[in-house]
Amino acid sequence: MTINPVFTDATPIAAIDAEQQFRADVLAGLSAQQKFLSAKYFYDAAGSDLFEAITRQPEYYPTRTEIGILDKQGAEIAATLPARANLVEFGSGSTAKVRRLLVHLPDLAAYVPVDVSESFLRSEANALAIDFPQLAIAPVAADFTRAFTLPDGLSHGAVAGFFPGSTIGNFEPPQAAHLLAHFGRVLGRGATLIIGVDLVKEKAVLDAAYDDAAGVTAAFNRNLLVRIQRELGADIDLNAFAHRAFFNVAASRIEMHLVSRIAHTVTVAGRAFRFEAGETIHTENSYKYTIDRFRDLAAEAGWTPRAVWTDSEALFSIHALVRS
Ligand SMILES: C[S@@+](CC[C@H](N)C(=O)[O-])C[C@H]1O[C@@H](n2cnc3c(N)ncnc32)[C@H](O)[C@@H]1O
Repeated sequence: MTINPVFTDATPIAAIDAEQQFRADVLAGLSAQQKFLSAKYFYDAAGSDLFEAITRQPEYYPTRTEIGILDKQGAEIAATLPARANLVEFGSGSTAKVRRLLVHLPDLAAYVPVDVSESFLRSEANALAIDFPQLAIAPVAADFTRAFTLPDGLSHGAVAGFFPGSTIGNFEPPQAAHLLAHFGRVLGRGATLIIGVDLVKEKAVLDAAYDDAAGVTAAFNRNLLVRIQRELGADIDLNAFAHRAFFNVAASRIEMHLVSRIAHTVTVAGRAFRFEAGETIHTENSYKYTIDRFRDLAAEAGWTPRAVWTDSEALFSIHALVRS
């Protein structure tokens, strides 16, 4: 057998003018009445490393719980995918989770990790190629919220999707429904989507998960400012901003903010932005769902529930959905 047939390093990478988009989004977000920045910008190389460190914090239950479900139920989850499928992972990050499925999918036609963090994407794809030498791996550097094309040369077999990590929770529910519909168009009619969704639970557990005692989530949040400073030429006093995260029960979401400790002005790409003391930049929402509420959202986007798996404490869920 050949080693990693079809695509070892010759995969076309979607061209995205990432820097221009970053500047436009940051300037627009800081100009809004409630200042905000998009959570997707957390993931530069340092942000990706910090996120991996968050997943190892004792308070951060989602990753280990989702991995626990994949370890226990991986064979059953993998069995919902069609034979010889091309498996597309949206926001692949560290490939720790998909590995739990790949061991049960020896006949997969190809694995297509899609991520905005190109250097991380490449290093993870290379590591995966070593551990799964027979697997065709076709990385795509793209923003999965936008139109992008799957690599040429994929087999004509079925296409399936994998979207773990409850990343769907980072979108406002109407946008989450749009994203699921977009995935449906990328994957095609009849496709299966395996998706991880964090569940509603006690506020204290949620608050702690996003404000770990070691301060790793705080560093992750502040890294957004470090990135803006480095990439856009900004004058930002990092110590002037504190991390704040809490579960907003009424909205069923974790909110993450950077809070200005003092009244001051920062300059980004030549533009000045005034902060009052206590004013915040809203950097992330992470919506938490019940199983039924998530199924309703998926149904709005054209997906029919096929199966769902949870851990024994019902902290986290993994759904298999089929596109009608
Ligand atoms: C929270 S991590 C989850 C990673 C992995 N799927 C997991 O569950 O462990 C989110 C990943 O998605 C990527 N990501 C976030 N927004 C994205 C977007 N709009 N397009 C492509 N990748 C994105 C990030 O770079 C990061 O690697």
